[in-house]
Amino acid sequence: MMPMAFDTTNHRYIKWAKFEGRLLMLGFGAIGQGVLPLLLRHLDLAPDRIAILSPGGRGHDLAVAQGVGLEDLTLTPENFATVLAARLGVGDFLLNLSVNVSSADLVQWCRARGVLYLDACISPWEGGWSDPDLAPVERSNLALRRGIQPLRHGAGSLPTAVIAHGVNPGLVSHFVKQALLNLAADRHQPVPAPASRGGWARLAQALGVRAIHIAERDTQTTPSRKQPGEFVNTWSVEGFIGEACQQPAELGWGSHERQLPLGAIAHGQGPQAAVMLPRPGAATRVRSWTPLAGPYQGFLVTHEESFSLAEFLTLSQGGEVVYRPTVHYAYYPCDDAVLSLHEMAGRNWEPLPRQRILAAEEIDAGMDELGVLLLGHARTAYWYGSRLTIDQARALCPYNNATTLQTTAGVLGGVVWAMRHPRAGLVDPDEMDFTEVLTVATPYLGEMVGVYSDWTPLQGRNRLFPEALDLDDPWQFTNVLV
Ligand SMILES: NC(=O)c1ccc[n+]([C@@H]2O[C@H](COP(=O)([O-])OP(=O)(O)OC[C@H]3O[C@@H](n4cnc5c(N)ncnc54)[C@H](O)[C@@H]3O)[C@@H](O)[C@H]2O)c1
Repeated sequence: MMPMAFDTTNHRYIKWAKFEGRLLMLGFGAIGQGVLPLLLRHLDLAPDRIAILSPGGRGHDLAVAQGVGLEDLTLTPENFATVLAARLGVGDFLLNLSVNVSSADLVQWCRARGVLYLDACISPWEGGWSDPDLAPVERSNLALRRGIQPLRHGAGSLPTAVIAHGVNPGLVSHFVKQALLNLAADRHQPVPAPASRGGWARLAQALGVRAIHIAERDTQTTPSRKQPGEFVNTWSVEGFIGEACQQPAELGWGSHERQLPLGAIAHGQGPQAAVMLPRPGAATRVRSWTPLAGPYQGFLVTHEESFSLAEFLTLSQGGEVVYRPTVHYAYYPCDDAVLSLHEMAGRNWEPLPRQRILAAEEIDAGMDELGVLLLGHARTAYWYGSRLTIDQARALCPYNNATTLQTTAGVLGGVVWAMRHPRAGLVDPDEMDFTEVLTVATPYLGEMVGVYSDWTPLQGRNRLFPEALDLDDPWQFTNVLV
């Protein structure tokens, strides 16, 4: 049965969690504004227990109209501890939906004071992505992930801090688990959901999954097209520029890979979990596939799930990695965002003077088709994910386009999970109960579909312009790289 958001017997939205503390939301941009109505619908928490910090007072009237207070305040490395201490204490919740604020510093602060925490991206303080004095590896997601690593120690009994839980990163980790179970069932070998990390990794290995793409095509359009000098996107322009143009391209490196791409850097010794290409993701195109878009070229944008999924699905024996899939994002953003990236590339990645995030009412058509593409198994390719049209998004929840609603549904699912499991310590999405989170999020994801395909990255290649392809094994990453 499809999960529901509405209780038809009592004629009200389902309250997924009762929360006694206060909730402070940091940042009130596309995701903050989109998630507020969901929090008010689905948490047993009065609006006057929620407060928002929003630099420049962005979104003030929208918050106040919903009974929520908003202060014009910018967090800095110098003021954050004082600002938070005046507003949060034991048993409260910090929901970080900002850009340019260090996740590591916030998690550490929350952990010491018994405050629950969730963010949708592991961020550095301002400049952490754009400082040319930092080497690419220092601006990488792997470095940010390593920065929070010490906070994992003693996790089990500490206040819950959910790291990077929107849709991707976030829900896609849960989609992968559902997709693995679907693959097994469709092979007439249904299995119960594994109870441990190793169990999921063994299932992925037994099914023969070699690579996982986070395969997304956003087809939302606006009649007021991007103008020269303007960056248009369906979610944070600043966040997207950071990850696609200022951070290097990165991916989780599978145990079956034979050859690093030219210039790639593998971190650490032995079979590598992480590989970095010292160039922007927006200049690194990969081949991928979604059911409606078909074959496409996406951008290899660095994302936390590329590491967390690759690590979660790793199997080792005697200190040697025996199985790990290659994991990466293959993002085809809305057409106006592609044009924006192209213009930025021409300006040597200098940000464009103007930015516009497309609000739901500016969009006239399209959808976000966002899922996980499991490759290399007996049935070649299997995509599982969400197809949410702009019309569905508008009907489901105000202040959301299709992209933000997929994200805010993930944030809601993560917040509910954290409130129900307040002493879980620092967790990646992969470490959470996927059915519990998907039950809360799925009613806002439109159509959830699983589709098989015979697509491989070699299909239709090597005819007019022969390339150096590894024809023996279509699942080598070098075949995916354009
Ligand atoms: N995981 C996912 O699926 C997913 C999807 C979309 C966005 N995100 C992440 O969610 C976060 C919010 O995205 P968005 O689209 O709402 O971004 P946005 O750019 O629309 O809004 C960012 C907000 O952060 C605030 N902010 C900036 N600097 C600040 C500071 N120093 N102190 C306090 N607030 C500050 C801005 O004023 C703004 O309100 C970003 O980190 C983004 O990367 C994750």
